[in-house]
Formats: sequence, C-alpha cells, structure tokens
Amino acid sequence: MGVRNRIEVMHGVNLDQLGRRDPDVYGGLSFDRLEQQIGGYAREQGLTTRFFQTNAEDEFVEHLHRLEGLSDAIVINPGAWTHYSWAIRDALEIAGLPSIEVHLSDVNAREEFRRVSVIRDLCLETISGRGVEGYRDALTRLKEELQT
Ligand code: DQA
Repeated sequence: MGVRNRIEVMHGVNLDQLGRRDPDVYGGLSFDRLEQQIGGYAREQGLTTRFFQTNAEDEFVEHLHRLEGLSDAIVINPGAWTHYSWAIRDALEIAGLPSIEVHLSDVNAREEFRRVSVIRDLCLETISGRGVEGYRDALTRLKEELQT
C-alpha cells in the first residue's frame, strides 16, 4: 500500500461562526484561522488535509459517503449534531475510516446534553476542551494509526 496520509477535517453546524461565538468557551479564534492552524499542524507532520464545513446535515452525510478512495482518516467535529444525529453516526460508520472526534470546548463541563455523543464509540478517541491544540493531538494520533 502507498503512503496513507490524507486527512479529512470535517466541521459541522455553526462552526463557521466561530469568531462570533462566546470567546470564553471557544477561544475567540475565527474559523479561517482555525483551519489555517490545523493545516499548519498537518504539514508539520507530513499529512495532507482537505477541509469541509457545512450547516446542512444532508451535505455532511453525503460528504462522508463520498470519502471512499479520497481520504485515509477523518478528524470530525460535528458541532451540535454530535449530540443527536443518528444519520451522521450511520454515515460515519459507512465511511469506515479511522476517525477522531474533536471539540474545542470541554463538552463534559457544560450542559448535560453535550455529554452525549452519538459518534464516540465509532472514533478511536474523543478530544475535548483543548481548543485548537486538540486538533494537533488528533492528527498525531491518526498519523500513528496510519503508520501501523
Ligand atoms: C462543539 C461543542 C458542541 O456542543 C457545540 O454544539 C458546538 C461546538 C465544540 O467544538 O466545542 O457547536 O462541537
């Protein structure tokens, strides 16, 4: 098999509005800056990234359907869909790629509904509350996974 280094970074609902969300919770970074930083972390590790964000659940699902042959692993932050979208869970299972769930904020230290993740058990790991650093950790973990 050739080099497996293609990471799909997928952001769901409302993450495009990051710069307008509570900086105490989300750190005040704009969405563009977040993606730039993640791209930089990936380059440092010799990984290539593609980015996808949408506020439409059907587009998110269809994007997962189309990953076959295009990506080797997924970093996924579905935003609020994390907590209830069985459709996204099923699509992630269909994609069948090693995945890490990332949340900028500490979902376990917020409202009760955020403690539920319908994708958690499909992911190698869940990283939450580490801000943009969480994405670096996710990339490191996926790199390890792809090398084994
Ligand atoms: C989030 C946490 C979710 O609970 C929330 O709905 C988001 C962002 C995070 O990155 O911390 O939109 O996924």
